[in-house]
Amino acid sequence: MAFVDVCKQRILLEGELVPCMVEGKEIIIMWADGGDPRAYDAACPHEKVSLARGDFNGRILYCTAHGWVFNGRDGKSLQPCGWELKEYPLRISDGIVQIDLTSE
Ligand code: FES
Repeated sequence: MAFVDVCKQRILLEGELVPCMVEGKEIIIMWADGGDPRAYDAACPHEKVSLARGDFNGRILYCTAHGWVFNGRDGKSLQPCGWELKEYPLRISDGIVQIDLTSE
């Protein structure tokens, strides 16, 4: 595990998505209503369009490129089924959000 700093915890809000760049990789941190903040690769598994410009309503993330839909709580696709966003481990240490890009 090699956690790196991403942002301050206080910029994360429940029900919102925060895009960020970490070591040259575009990441989204998605905090679904009633869940916990989770970090994902921003590349949509369909055609790799960035989900940083997706439409997140606190429960569902829509890829605006071709309309794929993802569950905000676990990154699994709902439409079509059978896909998932690549997730990275996330932790919060002393008010700083950190993720581990090395995990596969
Ligand atoms: S790139 Fe996201 S639905 Fe096509």
